[in-house]
Amino acid sequence: MTLTADTEAVRIEHLSKVYKDFWGRDKVRALDDLSLTIHRGEVFGLLGPNGSGKSTTIKLLLGLIFPTAGSASILGHPAGSTAINERIGFLPEESYLYRFLTGEETLHFYGRLFKIPRKELNRRVPLLLDTVGLNTKDRKRKLREYSKGMARRIGLAQALINNPDLILLDEPTTGLDPIGTREMKDLIISLKEQGKTVLLCSHLLADVQDVCERITILFRGQMQTLGQVRDLLEVKDITQIQTKGMTPAQVEEMRQFLSRMGVSDTVVTHPTTTLEDLFMRIVRERTVNGQVVPVGATPGNGHAGNGKPGM
Ligand SMILES: Nc1ncnc2c1ncn2[C@@H]1O[C@H](COP(=O)(O)OP(=O)(O)OP(=O)(O)O)[C@@H](O)[C@H]1O
Ligand SMILES: [Mg+2]
Repeated sequence: MTLTADTEAVRIEHLSKVYKDFWGRDKVRALDDLSLTIHRGEVFGLLGPNGSGKSTTIKLLLGLIFPTAGSASILGHPAGSTAINERIGFLPEESYLYRFLTGEETLHFYGRLFKIPRKELNRRVPLLLDTVGLNTKDRKRKLREYSKGMARRIGLAQALINNPDLILLDEPTTGLDPIGTREMKDLIISLKEQGKTVLLCSHLLADVQDVCERITILFRGQMQTLGQVRDLLEVKDITQIQTKGMTPAQVEEMRQFLSRMGVSDTVVTHPTTTLEDLFMRIVRERTVNGQVVPVGATPGNGHAGNGKPGM
């Protein structure tokens, strides 16, 4: 293994993809001269509107389609080489799973494809089902009965069955409710904590902002920007000071002080929470140990708040 392969999970160089039509004529330039490197152990976001080339990039990395120009390597090997595919986990945009298998059977099936010994599979499958939050009853049901969110969870478990080093997630939160979305994001963060590299494709900006360190934005197949999320979002000419419990008189005094310093355009506000935080807090307050707290009930153990959606 080369020195760079130790620190690089993915290297994409001048990658382009032109889809041809039935007669071999150029139809769509889906990806146009993309170059970037994803470091090992980072969560990298590939952002872009519909049709901007996100899924095309993932398919090229997996070797499912071939580039028109340029190249990509994964963990030091050319994209698509069999030596590397068993170290990759892939959650496609739409999971094509066998509808007549149960969740549990699905994982055993994919585990056997990776030649994972039965004993190890018996250990790994329930752990993975716990990790993605499929309860004991649902994991015994056939996939054709699954809701969109449940299908997404089993899709993710399938992507992790081979304990991959690089995980490619194409729109992982599609079909998930805000709780499922939060759990998916927490899971992505925990994958990073285990030292895994994650490439996350999405057009849901809040999801990407919450979990990714670096992102790139694609538009019509071309890279528009690349960098640390924090740097890209920082409003450099505004200074924000946060403090707790200031009285209106103190706020006024502070405002006058700033004015004496010659600082203008001072805005004093209370920070707002996100709708996701509010939603999660309400759901948590209404649920104790998996049980819904009836409206008006006073929970005994003090974890559930007052059951009202108060601030
Ligand atoms: N097999 C194909 N044949 C022809 N054109 C294709 C094919 N697959 C994708 N395209 C075109 O390539 C462009 C990029 O598609 P791609 O699926 O990579 O976008 P995306 O960013 O994943 O979009 P979305 O957010 O909708 O999933 C689009 O214009 C699409 O129509
Ligand atoms: Mg796509």
